[in-house]
Amino acid sequence: MDRKIVIAIDGFSSCGKSTFAKAIAKRLNYLYIDSGAMYRAVTLELLQRELIHNGGVDSSNLKDLLNSIRIGFSYDPEKGVYATTLNGKVVENEIRSPEVANNVSLVAAIPEVRERLVELQRELGKSKGIVMDGRDIGTVVFPDAELKIFMTADPVVRAQRRLKELRDKGIDISLKDVLRNIEERDYIDQNRDIAPLRQAPDALVLDNTNMTIEEQMAWVESMVNQLIV
Ligand code: DC
Repeated sequence: MDRKIVIAIDGFSSCGKSTFAKAIAKRLNYLYIDSGAMYRAVTLELLQRELIHNGGVDSSNLKDLLNSIRIGFSYDPEKGVYATTLNGKVVENEIRSPEVANNVSLVAAIPEVRERLVELQRELGKSKGIVMDGRDIGTVVFPDAELKIFMTADPVVRAQRRLKELRDKGIDISLKDVLRNIEERDYIDQNRDIAPLRQAPDALVLDNTNMTIEEQMAWVESMVNQLIV
């Protein structure tokens, strides 16, 4: 039987990480975990409990709360989609809301939150056969992952892709504003004190500025084939 491996995918926002990671998981019949969704789920729980006020998080009972909440992923094989669950309830739409998006960087910077989520992420990867995407997967969560990929693409191309997604959802915004938001997020991701976005020294760089998803899949398949046989 093929050897199962851990595939860690990190990179800038709006690089197509999740589309790529999901396609790999589907091809290999691996588990796909969106680690960003886990930070978003914790943020949603804190908002629902009204523990975020004026740009600060009430952290008095944070450890207990983190130990009690259940974050999971349910896969719908018919639709081929993954849905994030929080305490057993599907919250995929709620975690993508602007309110969560506006508070998640704050929550992702809290050491107790990172500690607990990294623990859960390692637990999910224990049996291997997993593709996880995020910012610190190859550097912190799975430093021994057999395959680490660092994704990047030209910011203008990323902004154009994101603009199309937003316009398809009926959101009216200019390319200039989307680009500014992407550049701001890149800066925050790379410059925060705890677990900043970094390329692991042994990560393979995938610059998909001029690549289709099929080309990216052909590239990754040749890498995976060398590792699992
Ligand atoms: O990938 P995303 O936009 O859903 O991530 C949401 C937030 O969580 C974003 O602020 C980056 C942060 N994040 C993180 O700090 N570490 C990860 N492994 C994944 C996401």
